[in-house]
Amino acid sequence: MAKETARMITRLAAAIGSLYIAMSPVYALDFLHEPIKRIPQTLDVSPDKAAIGKKLFFDPRLSVDNSISCAHCHNLDEKGGADALRHSFGVQGREGLVNAPTVFNSALNSTQFWDGRAKSLEDQVDGSVQAHAEMASTWPQVVEKLRADAEYRRLFLRSYKTDINPANIKHAIAEFERTLLTPNSRFERYLKGDENAINAEEKDGYRLFKSYGCVACHQGRNVGGNMFQVLGVMGDYFSDHKVENKADYGRFNVTGRQEDKYRFKVPSLRLAVLTAPYLHDGSHTSLAETIRTMAKYQLVRNIPDEDVRSIIHFLYTLPGEYEGKSLEPVTREHLNFLPENKVASQ
Ligand code: HEC
Ligand code: HEC
Repeated sequence: MAKETARMITRLAAAIGSLYIAMSPVYALDFLHEPIKRIPQTLDVSPDKAAIGKKLFFDPRLSVDNSISCAHCHNLDEKGGADALRHSFGVQGREGLVNAPTVFNSALNSTQFWDGRAKSLEDQVDGSVQAHAEMASTWPQVVEKLRADAEYRRLFLRSYKTDINPANIKHAIAEFERTLLTPNSRFERYLKGDENAINAEEKDGYRLFKSYGCVACHQGRNVGGNMFQVLGVMGDYFSDHKVENKADYGRFNVTGRQEDKYRFKVPSLRLAVLTAPYLHDGSHTSLAETIRTMAKYQLVRNIPDEDVRSIIHFLYTLPGEYEGKSLEPVTREHLNFLPENKVASQ
């Protein structure tokens, strides 16, 4: 009997072992060991409501003077879902306090905005529509303008079974944003077990990204977006760079707690190669410069240029596809900011 049990245990162990080996290229590597996870192909959204949201996203009537839409600052075609400016400019050229993050994959962030003041994408819309330096509108104004449009009335009635109201508008825009995912990056093919999906230098960059400790903060499906960390956790960033405006206090503005001073949502690096300039204040123009700042103030490390270079190569493997088209840039402009390339191009 004991012999029989022992044999069964051995057989069970062998079965589990071979199952593990069979799955390892796909699952063990992807889900068990790696700090970066794949982006889902889709999220659960209503296509009809997302289609209304898309129309709203491109509609300047959401702004007080009908001059700018969400897409004005979140350009999906050319600028990786951001605006390529240090600070954004809203209606009447009003300058905002911070750099616009991408809207791509924002549905995967645990909160919205640099200081996390919006808990959901729906809440986030409240901010954009009403902010003085963005759309500077009010909900009664927006609802009135949209209700005057027979096409919107028809669409909202069909999908929401009600008249147009702020809650539906916010929900529709958020539904559209939940479709702005960028899965199928080369890096994800690598995570799934395709060793050739990224080259040796990119692999080296990923190894360094892990060994320097970048993954302690930039991790998960969005390579960021799921925690708050102090800018200057290991060095006083704001004694070297003066506080420019209230937004520099970060999460402190939301919680009022001293320990949240200079604390920001760790940004996603998925589309970082497309969304210069960097940091909440847009103060850094290149990835090389940003990576050195990260090393100095977040890790107390000095990263040699060849490692910065490899990490940049790795970051180029992260953008995936939107509407079936790869977002990965063909040229690697961020390499031009490295010293050896600066010399070569002079
Ligand atoms: C004037 C430019 C501008 C306009 C117009 C604008 N945004 Fe933004 N958006 C920004 C800036 C700047 C931020 C960051 C603000 C902050 O964190 O305090 C931001 C943040 C966001 C975020 C949060 C992303 C993250 O990772 O935290 C989302 C989502 C977003 N905007 C969606 C929208 C939508 C939807 C609209 C239209 C209703 C819109 N934006 C209109 C500039 C703009
Ligand atoms: C202790 C946490 C932490 C570590 C470790 C860390 N970062 Fe960051 N990273 C942040 C935070 C927080 C921000 C945003 C700060 C801000 O905007 O003020 C950020 C911003 C960035 C940005 C700018 C993204 C954008 O869109 O503006 C890049 C690029 C970046 N980090 C890369 C790295 C790399 C590469 C490493 C490793 C060498 C690293 N980070 C290590 C927390 C961290």
